[in-house]
Amino acid sequence: MKKSLILTLAVMIMTACAAKEPKVLITYFSPTGTTKSLAQELGTVTGADLFEIEGAQPYTTDDVNLGNREARAFKEMADKSLRPEVKGKPDKLKSYDVVFIGFPIWGDAAPNIINSFIEGNDLKGKTVIIFSTSGSSNLTNSFNKLKEQYPDLNLVEGTTLKRNPTPEARQNVINTLKEAIPAK
Ligand SMILES: Cc1cc2nc3c(=O)[nH]c(=O)nc-3n(C[C@H](O)[C@H](O)[C@H](O)COP(=O)(O)O)c2cc1C
Repeated sequence: MKKSLILTLAVMIMTACAAKEPKVLITYFSPTGTTKSLAQELGTVTGADLFEIEGAQPYTTDDVNLGNREARAFKEMADKSLRPEVKGKPDKLKSYDVVFIGFPIWGDAAPNIINSFIEGNDLKGKTVIIFSTSGSSNLTNSFNKLKEQYPDLNLVEGTTLKRNPTPEARQNVINTLKEAIPAK
């Protein structure tokens, strides 16, 4: 009798704890794969779902050619009012408490397609954790610009993974992002 009561209590406590886990979605834009691999690793350690933010018109290698100032990426960087169309939308976005948004830093800012994604999906009331990959830039300037553009959203500054990271630096980024997920 006593044993079954203890067992019931244990199950109740476990259920209550499980219910406190927030539902997490990791979204990312990654024309050359660096942000994608970080997002996937974060997905593996957190068990979160993934959604890739892709252009309705896909980004080619030529589009992100750093040696060509006429390339699409540079045109978009030069005109921040451009809103490249996103292909599709995440499934059941409403059900997520936390949404990560990851991107490569372009010209010390988030690529315009991130604006398209934010404006095209209802993120109000969610914790939105921003992260990035970059050559050498920190995330702060890109994050502050987003914060200024979307004051009504609960944006949280994650961190950036810089080029050629040591395994330890990569692990630190993963840990920082994981720890940014608030308890429900
Ligand atoms: C058009 C363009 C602009 C970039 N601007 C910056 C920048 O301002 N600062 C920086 O550190 N890296 C910059 N980078 C480097 C990317 O942020 C970096 O290579 C990133 O990890 C690429 O991510 P991806 O492989 O997911 O596309 C730029 C790259 C491109 C293509």
